Amino acid sequence: MRLEGRRILVIGGGGGGIGRAMTRAFGAEGAAVAVADRDPDRAEEAAAELRVAGATAVAVTVDVRDADELAALVATAVRELGGLDTLVTVVGGQLEFVPAVRLHEMRDDDWDTVYELNLRYVARAVRLVLPVFLEQGHGSIVSVGSVTGVMAAPHQAAYGVAKAGLLSLARTVAAEYSADGIRMNVVVAGAIATAVNPGPDGWVDPIPLGRYGRSDEVADAAVYLASDAASYVTGQQLVIDGGVSARGPFG
Ligand SMILES: NC(=O)c1ccc[n+]([C@@H]2O[C@H](COP(=O)([O-])OP(=O)(O)OC[C@H]3O[C@@H](n4cnc5c(N)ncnc54)[C@H](O)[C@@H]3O)[C@@H](O)[C@H]2O)c1
Repeated sequence: MRLEGRRILVIGGGGGGIGRAMTRAFGAEGAAVAVADRDPDRAEEAAAELRVAGATAVAVTVDVRDADELAALVATAVRELGGLDTLVTVVGGQLEFVPAVRLHEMRDDDWDTVYELNLRYVARAVRLVLPVFLEQGHGSIVSVGSVTGVMAAPHQAAYGVAKAGLLSLARTVAAEYSADGIRMNVVVAGAIATAVNPGPDGWVDPIPLGRYGRSDEVADAAVYLASDAASYVTGQQLVIDGGVSARGPFG
């Protein structure tokens, strides 16, 4: 029960992959969870699963591209949970939203779509929760990043750039708000077996641990970063990638 008594908002927490695994893990560790998702059924299903297991959970529908909906979401989470200790941002990706193409072929509209679904809404959500955290004197933020943000992102340039931006955002939150008791960190995921990225598909060779990761392995990292075990950790990236980004030129 590493998150006993914590109130957590998970944006994208209804998904079948990393989002759902995180929602499940937070509930299992004793947190009360507001599950936000564009798909109302997914959000409700994830929240209901927690309630059946005895946890407190509410479902909220949101489209993160809409600034008003995002503001209403934070207000609803604070009201329904009686406060907010942690914000977790999961929504993101490129392949499910726009085509994978080489950089020179990428259209402006598609670049903007990837940016708003991976970075702009996160920055906005962070700006919305900061006043809540400042007033209560504590708070933490965990964002789901990607190895494409720390390595090359072939055919997914906008995605890599946006995920790299999350790391910068976390460092700035650390620099500006540590004295206020506020932390932000990024879980950097490698190839994780989900609906979008089912694997293994022959691409496991570059993975030192020889397999795709599981969503619950990413969720474990988020539990750690949200918990007091990480009370001295902020502005950091925790890489869960089976060793991919550790490789060098000789292997
Ligand atoms: N799957 C991988 O291999 C992998 C690797 C690295 C990083 N990631 C990152 O992990 C995160 C989760 O990916 P996943 O594939 O596990 O997804 P997921 O199964 O956790 O689903 C994400 C959820 O986001 C919701 N969503 C989509 N657009 C939305 C919108 N506009 N507003 C509100 N909700 C919206 C979807 O309905 C879905 O329920 C993403 O940020 C992705 O970039 C995934």
